[in-house]
Amino acid sequence: MIKPVLECIGVAAGYVKGLNILNGVDLVLNSGEVVSIIGPNGAGKSTLLKAIAGIIKINAGRFYLNGLDKTNTPTYKIIHEGLGYVPQVNNIFPSLSLEENLEMGNQKNTNENFSDVYNLFPLLKERSKEKAGNLSGGQRQMLALGRALISKPDILLLDEPSAGLSPNAVDEVFKSIVEINKTGVSILIVEQNARRSLEISNRGYVLDQGRNAYSGLGKDILNDEKIVELYLGKM
Ligand SMILES: Nc1ncnc2c1ncn2[C@@H]1O[C@H](COP(=O)(O)OP(=O)(O)O)[C@@H](O)[C@H]1O
Ligand SMILES: [Mg+2]
Repeated sequence: MIKPVLECIGVAAGYVKGLNILNGVDLVLNSGEVVSIIGPNGAGKSTLLKAIAGIIKINAGRFYLNGLDKTNTPTYKIIHEGLGYVPQVNNIFPSLSLEENLEMGNQKNTNENFSDVYNLFPLLKERSKEKAGNLSGGQRQMLALGRALISKPDILLLDEPSAGLSPNAVDEVFKSIVEINKTGVSILIVEQNARRSLEISNRGYVLDQGRNAYSGLGKDILNDEKIVELYLGKM
């Protein structure tokens, strides 16, 4: 049965009082899905994830987690309720060791999930005592994913996980996302690398100027000439 795990209805949010960046966004993430949010720079994609994660205030509309109204729930509570969030920037602490970075994500204070994360990313175990600042871009992204996974989320929000990575590292990151999804985690991804992201997504949403511009199956968006021309560039 299709069950929404996350739902936004008419979400409006912004950074300055009285000035909304998001102007009523609707979005559904169903259990087990990978869903992409794409759209031009400045469309409000990161802002939407921040509003869901309780980092900025939702001024209008509602946000539901597993059918329960969680509009404007503080971030630490949202994390306890099964939402993991990997921000676009500053998603690791370079001066701390890998292990300490993972520990920072251990909001529930259990050690049970370290081994799952180490199985998914053996490198994080091998280099656990090293400083995170020594890692390459792709390895840092793995650490950021690991840090979010430590608290065993049911839902993962990923903001531009492939940004600034080498082609090989981009492949690795998308492979990891598919692996994580296979373990039952529902995933909402914001990506500039729209094509790659849609390829691994069940569905996608195009945001433009803080509003829904289009939504559909990942493969339909990729085959839609108009969307491709407007938002994905020439094939
Ligand atoms: N911390 C902030 N303070 C004020 N305005 C911001 C802040 N972050 C983003 N914005 C503005 O919000 C709009 C949407 O930004 P963002 O959600 O980051 O876009 P996207 O992720 O789609 O590229 C942009 O006009 C941006 O300048
Ligand atoms: Mg962004």
